Amino acid sequence: MKIAVIGTGYVGLVSGTCFASWGHEVVCVDKNAQKIDGLERGVVPIYEPGLDELVERNSAAGRLSFTCNLAEGLKGASVVFIAVGTPPRAGQGDADLSFVYMAARELAPLIDDDAVVVVKSTVPVGTGDIVQKIIGSVRKTGTFSVASNPEFLREGVAIRDFLEPDRVVIGVEDERARKVLMKLYGAPLEARRTPIVVTQRRTSELTKYAANAFLATKITFINELADLCEQVGSNVSELALGMGLDKRIGTSFLNAGPGYGGSCFPKDTMALLRTAQDYGVAVRIVEETVTANEARKRRMALKVVDALDGDVEGRTIAVLGLTFKPDTDDMRDAPSVPLIETLQRFGATIRAHDPVGMENASRILSDVEFFDDAYECARNADAVVIITEWDSIRKLDLARLKKTMRQAVLIDLRNAFEHGVAEEIGFRVSAIGRST
Ligand code: UGA
Repeated sequence: MKIAVIGTGYVGLVSGTCFASWGHEVVCVDKNAQKIDGLERGVVPIYEPGLDELVERNSAAGRLSFTCNLAEGLKGASVVFIAVGTPPRAGQGDADLSFVYMAARELAPLIDDDAVVVVKSTVPVGTGDIVQKIIGSVRKTGTFSVASNPEFLREGVAIRDFLEPDRVVIGVEDERARKVLMKLYGAPLEARRTPIVVTQRRTSELTKYAANAFLATKITFINELADLCEQVGSNVSELALGMGLDKRIGTSFLNAGPGYGGSCFPKDTMALLRTAQDYGVAVRIVEETVTANEARKRRMALKVVDALDGDVEGRTIAVLGLTFKPDTDDMRDAPSVPLIETLQRFGATIRAHDPVGMENASRILSDVEFFDDAYECARNADAVVIITEWDSIRKLDLARLKKTMRQAVLIDLRNAFEHGVAEEIGFRVSAIGRST
């Protein structure tokens, strides 16, 4: 099958590359000439483990190519994915769909007569209907279809999530689109017996938001239970295991921490609330999730203050891990940002280390000294705060870390370390969801 993917952001690039590795001929189209130039030379503009190699392999095999020329990219494509960004609109809470609509307008005169246009970008319910109208207003003839196929990729493990998904969701309004998409996903996923949920377009669109809102709620639930654990003397990790082994609950996404961040949960929960508001429906549990998570991110600074006996004025704090989670350079809505900014307002000096995210972090944070080396970062610090549980951070030698510090205080907001061991070494430990 020949596939065109419009947008070489995170979703477009990962999806296009993975389709190519399933043997399809894929052309990725983007207006950003610099990005396309780079990709043609094998320079991948995002940090995603394994993606460089996969792009290189598929490009070399002639299955994956890149262009700025939309007409050239769409020529002969039986499936056209729209995978452009849908950033949050400033102050509005909903998704900005202008890139999706622009893509629809531009592709309309150029697609093959019976192409299936698939919206992969995360879009509010009803967007597919509008895309259909936009294309229909330009294209009076032909039998094009518009389908929805949301992505469920996690940054950092996106390739595995694409090639070995728990499920695929397809929203179609006609039999031809169903057949084409079933062919696209059915064969490569047959051996894994991956369920493919075929539904209407509107259900598919909403499923994406429902899944992200549910996961955000699950994290918020365990975070609130963590607070309770701290007060009553329980251990949240063991509690999560005791709960999660019930198959109806599941153990994943029950790691308590400083609050969820990233480019998806904060944006998608807000967009879901906006849709619910537009339709006069209350989704109170998601409203509470959003409020609780925002408050939690701000409150984490107080945990640091408490661990330093109520005052951080003039203290030096080493922050290890800045990105919203490990294995990404993404700083969007990272809990590290409000935490650091609050500590600075309280008069602390911040030193920081992240294996990959420091360049992006330096564009957001000011008055922070960055260190490539975690031990150097901790030098003369009064406390070390773990915000992101990178593997390299988990593996730090605590005894060596302690030697560089002025005062051995460890605030572990991800429960990344064995706290008993840290205490034996001489650290005063403050953790999440356990009374230490
Ligand atoms: C999320 C979803 O997990 C994907 O399924 C979805 O496709 C994606 O959004 C999207 O909409 O594009 P992602 O934002 O990459 O993926 O990251 P997650 O791994 O879900 O983590 C989100 C946040 O929750 C991070 O800040 C992470 O630290 C936090 N988290 C996650 C916890 O605090 N505890 C957990 O147990 C799990």
